[in-house]
Amino acid sequence: MAMRVVRTIADLRALLRTLREKGQRIGFVPTMGFLHEGHGALIRQSAARCDATVVSIFVNPNQFGPGEDLASYPRDLERDQSLCLETGASVLFIPEDAEIYPTGFQTHVEPGQLAEPLCGRFRPGHFRGVATVVAKLFSIVQPDLAFFGQKDYQQAIVIRRMVRDLNMPVDVVVVPTVREADGLALSSRNTYLDEKGRKRALSINHGLQAAREAFEGGERSAARLLEIVQGPLSHSKSGVTRVQYLELVDAQTLEPVQGTVDRTVALCVAAYVGSTRLIDNVILAPAADEAGLNVSLSPQRV
Ligand code: PAF
Repeated sequence: MAMRVVRTIADLRALLRTLREKGQRIGFVPTMGFLHEGHGALIRQSAARCDATVVSIFVNPNQFGPGEDLASYPRDLERDQSLCLETGASVLFIPEDAEIYPTGFQTHVEPGQLAEPLCGRFRPGHFRGVATVVAKLFSIVQPDLAFFGQKDYQQAIVIRRMVRDLNMPVDVVVVPTVREADGLALSSRNTYLDEKGRKRALSINHGLQAAREAFEGGERSAARLLEIVQGPLSHSKSGVTRVQYLELVDAQTLEPVQGTVDRTVALCVAAYVGSTRLIDNVILAPAADEAGLNVSLSPQRV
């Protein structure tokens, strides 16, 4: 099927109705554009598991705080369209702001405790904005499956909970983070980094991978694992400019884990390289703990 580009909710609904009448299973990949191979992996998974894949591109103003990069958020629609086509999208939905937030819009989804720690602590209102737009997009697209990247781990967990709490008939699939050959997690915001910044950003992955190796070698002390990540991050020449948070949390509840790690945990970092804020994480699972996460431990590389 050739890829269709749709800009209004009415057109999208009409198109999806015909697909559903044919019994097609719909996959959905919500994005804010400036797509990279991380998005490509989400679209490929959807295309492999569904009959039709809808990709949305919408830079959601309601999830940016004051002073964040809404105005400068990178955009390249032509390149996005090519990537969608190459990776198997069937429909590209590119709504205007007023289509999603018409005048008088006033209903929001308020996530609970899962939105409070980690990024939530530093980006008040962010997950409210994410949950609201994703709920709207789910209601517009009505997908069978929706795909989210593990890099935004807290986002994926908040959305899974929203789906469960609000009985939304969609399965949320979390896809492992895609990394550059040197380990840098792909992110649209990597475009803000210059050569030097990019090198410093690698310390995030170096720290996380060192902790993963230690964990695989039997290290179970939460404090020690955090120290191992901290090492490369705080190196004065090759480390990041500032660590915003570095936390070891229960992979399901996102509550801090102290003492001995005896269940699946997420080791999560947010750090600044210059003025660019980057996040990354690894999931550490003791062999005995089947936490039910569908995230694999092996990162994908491009
Ligand atoms: O991860 C993103 O790109 C955004 O937070 C999302 C899920 C598209 C909602 O705007």
